[in-house]
This record gives sequence, structure tokens and C-alpha cells, in this order.
Amino acid sequence: MHIDDTYKSKYISPEEIDALAHSLQGLELFKSAFANITTYQFVGRIGCYVEFNSIFPSVVASLAAKIGCSRAVFVNPSETVLSLQDESYEVAAYVFAAAVDEFGGGKYKYTHRNLAKAFLSSVAAFYQMSSNYLNECLKYSRSVDMLGCRGRIERAYLAPYQDLPVPELLVALGFHAASEYFADLEFNALRTIFEMHYPELLEFLRKRLVSFGSSKAPASQWLDIHTSVESDHYRAALMAIDLALLYSDNTILGKRFVLQGFSEFVRLQSQLCQNLITP
Ligand SMILES: [Fe+2]
Ligand SMILES: [Fe+2]
Repeated sequence: MHIDDTYKSKYISPEEIDALAHSLQGLELFKSAFANITTYQFVGRIGCYVEFNSIFPSVVASLAAKIGCSRAVFVNPSETVLSLQDESYEVAAYVFAAAVDEFGGGKYKYTHRNLAKAFLSSVAAFYQMSSNYLNECLKYSRSVDMLGCRGRIERAYLAPYQDLPVPELLVALGFHAASEYFADLEFNALRTIFEMHYPELLEFLRKRLVSFGSSKAPASQWLDIHTSVESDHYRAALMAIDLALLYSDNTILGKRFVLQGFSEFVRLQSQLCQNLITP
């Protein structure tokens, strides 16, 4: 399996995607959540964003499994041997690729969750926050159904496994693609925010080596790797969508379900940012 560096969907144009993605000003909201805030708010909001991202590795792996199990849904009708018509694992592979990265099986050998924890604790170390103070600061990020998002993400990805109808799988694929699309925009925006407004903190994070098992990596790695891996995940999601549409029976209707899922994530992302700004 190869993820093409320049892949563009055969069915959904970049213009369609961009128009949907920017319809609720999600990126602008994200940037404004990190503008003109106190250190206490800054660490709390980083904590919320870390928390928001922590659920995705598991739900993405679950979606890959769910698609893989749907062998009767994604089929190649030109294969004349009925038992060999299934293509669901070919679709699932491009979703699973993102989960492989998240679980430390890709280029970087650390789980992204571990990198996120090291990043957050190192930000707190820079500001010399005690555990008690940091716990207080991150209280909101630990609250039940943080920012009203967790339940919606779980519902989007974790519907039951048994022979899901194709619309549900396509909606979930659209939701997943949008999550990768926004992650790329958000992490790049976050790095610019660090570079422009927190340069000393960024330098501290880049110099601070953190142990992960038998090896060490800079505490900044969570921020640094996500400015490139998310665009890989997004392109892989587009490749999964194209295969799913190719191997499902109605491409035009199928595309509508994908865009529905994409729009659902756009609304969720905007809600996340609004809740970050006004908890
Ligand atoms: Fe990640
Ligand atoms: Fe990702």
C-alpha cells in the first residue's frame, strides 16, 4: 500500500472540500482560541486539544476494522468468482494506515498519545506549574464529554460492527477525512502560534529530551510530526473514500453520504473551538 504524496480524489474536488471545510470558519475559530490569552488559559486549551485528539487513534482503528468486516459491502463486480469479490480490506487499509502511525508503527516509533503527554507535561514544566496547579488548569479538559465532543466522535466511528449499511460507512469515512483535514490545518496553525508568540517555550521543548522506553525524543515532537503526518492521513482517507465509492453500487449517492459525514465533522470542529473560547 502506497500513499500518494499528491493524491487528489477522483470523485470529490479540492474546491468542494475547501468550501465545506471553511463554511463555519473553523480554522479562524481555532486560531482565535489561542490569541490574547493568559498562560493559565493557554495551558488549559492545549490540554483540551490534547484531550480531543486522544480519542482518535482508537476510533480510527475501530473504523478500519468495521470497514474490513464489511466484505459484502465493498465488492468488485468484475471479479467473476463470488468468494473473491470483496474489496473491503483494500478500503480499510487506507484508514488503518493512520491508526498505525498513531500507535507508533509508522516512521516515528512512539504512540502519539505518549508524545502528547510528554508535550503537555513539558509545557507545564516550562511554566514551573505544580501537579496540583496543572490538575486545576486541566480540569475542564477532563470533564465528562469534554467540550461536548467525545460522544459525537464515538457515535460517528463506533457504531456496531454487524454488516453496516453502506451509507453509515461512507458517512464515517467522510467524518474521518474531515478530522484529518482539520488536524493538518490546526497543527500547522498551532506551530505558527508557538513560533510567533511562544518562541522561548518552543525552544525549551525542542531542547528537552524525553524518554520513551529505550529511546529519547524532543518534547516538541508531538507538535512537529503532526504538521506533516496529518496531511498523509488525509490523503490516505481520500484514497479510502475513492475505493469505497468505486466498490459500492452508487457513486453519486455514495458521494453525498461522504460529504454528509465531512459536514458533520465541520460542525463538531466549530463547536469544539467555540467551547474552547467560551467554556
Ligand atoms: Fe496523531
Ligand atoms: Fe491523523
